[in-house]
Amino acid sequence: MTDSWKPRSFVIAGGTVLTPDGPREVDVHVADGVITSLSSDTPPEGTRTVDARGTYVLPGAIDVHVHSRDPGFPQKEDFGTLTEAAAAGGVTTVIDMPNTVPAVDAAGVLESKAALARSKARVDFGMWALLRSGTTAEELESLADAGAVGFKAYLGYAFSLTRKQVLYSPGLDDPDLETPPDYGTLARLAPVIARLGLPLAIHAEDPGILSAFRRPLETYSDLLAARPPEAEAVAIAAAAEIAGASSVRMHVAHLSSAPGLAAAKEAIRAGAPLSLETCPQYLWLSEEDFPRAGTAMKMFPPIRSAADRDALVDGLAQGVIGLVATDHAPHTDEEKAASFDEAPAGSPGVQTLYVSCLELARRIGDVWLAARWVSEAPAALVGLQETKGTIAPGYDADLVIVDPGKRTLVRPEAMRSRQRHGALDGMDFGFSVREVYLRGAAIWRDGRRVGGATGRMVRPARLGSALP
Ligand code: DOR
Ligand code: ZN
Repeated sequence: MTDSWKPRSFVIAGGTVLTPDGPREVDVHVADGVITSLSSDTPPEGTRTVDARGTYVLPGAIDVHVHSRDPGFPQKEDFGTLTEAAAAGGVTTVIDMPNTVPAVDAAGVLESKAALARSKARVDFGMWALLRSGTTAEELESLADAGAVGFKAYLGYAFSLTRKQVLYSPGLDDPDLETPPDYGTLARLAPVIARLGLPLAIHAEDPGILSAFRRPLETYSDLLAARPPEAEAVAIAAAAEIAGASSVRMHVAHLSSAPGLAAAKEAIRAGAPLSLETCPQYLWLSEEDFPRAGTAMKMFPPIRSAADRDALVDGLAQGVIGLVATDHAPHTDEEKAASFDEAPAGSPGVQTLYVSCLELARRIGDVWLAARWVSEAPAALVGLQETKGTIAPGYDADLVIVDPGKRTLVRPEAMRSRQRHGALDGMDFGFSVREVYLRGAAIWRDGRRVGGATGRMVRPARLGSALP
């Protein structure tokens, strides 16, 4: 037998490994892409050993909120550049949002997008499907059968599928703009999604409040006034009622405000099945950063006050906010160089998810919390809890070796996304990603990508659509 017939096995030795029982100095044994054991036993002679002394060995991150732009806007990003940036940051699974073109609102679209992604992806990927105004129960069922991890409803005017894919401030009546589904549509479809066993994610900004506060966006204050926190709180409260009534797992994407968090806490206290996500930019930045960050900070919902930021950090520290994702939403560097009003909303971020969360978790007092936010909790949200998000025997060997002694300075030249700008530009985090493994194969090592497009589509564990 030649070497290539042997199972691909190796040991990551000497690191501090985040195990289900907490951090342990133990070796991680891998064979055929899967973790086989955690032990300090000497491996069979000839087993390849990765020296991880002095490092942390963490589960690969699952970023449940990215925008690949593929198909539709490859000049902004595609699955190749998206997943190279992901690999560089220790993100071994990305879950892509459905506002690509054509929108992922039918099984056939999801299937062809998955085939396209498969040809380019360097990390594993999953797909959100779009819940639109006219979506039917049958469409949801066939999207679930095609492998959607869940559904996304954009309540708050957040994109158009033509032109630059974003709305401009004066344009809520723009015919290109995607009309948000109303609460009636959500209430009608939530029981169907609950029966399918999948989550319903919402962009939580109330469209009525956005319409009422609409204005030209000349300054950063205009953006804050046009998309006030009560728009988030109202949308969350309404969605939570629907979640409570239908038992659908309702997921709030990119929570951005103290009032939004308060509304969510209240709903959770009352028993609503609600999960909360926020993003590094809302945890690290406030309106005060605008002079430094400029249009890289323009996004919907907006980055708000220091008090909002601090409330979100508290919510995360208390465990009310369970997970962190990036809302990696690239537009071209040229588009973002336009005036504040004209610049599209959204910025890249997938590459800095892990290091920014490790730094925040350390400041909160428990560095290992970061893996819960970016790996374990996201796995549970999208039905991957049996294969990913945990370092234990039987799980995919999606592993990240992090150097806790080496800093990462966020700078445009180091970014692997097709775009170089980012809201966290210039920040400095006290960790760096040294090596990354996807199902046992190295995909990133010492600042370089390794291997090819080996990413596969993930499918959620769910109850199935054939229920009575
Ligand atoms: O700022 C945003 N950009 N918010 C969204 O909800 C959509 C996103 C995009 O796709 O560019
Ligand atoms: Zn988004």
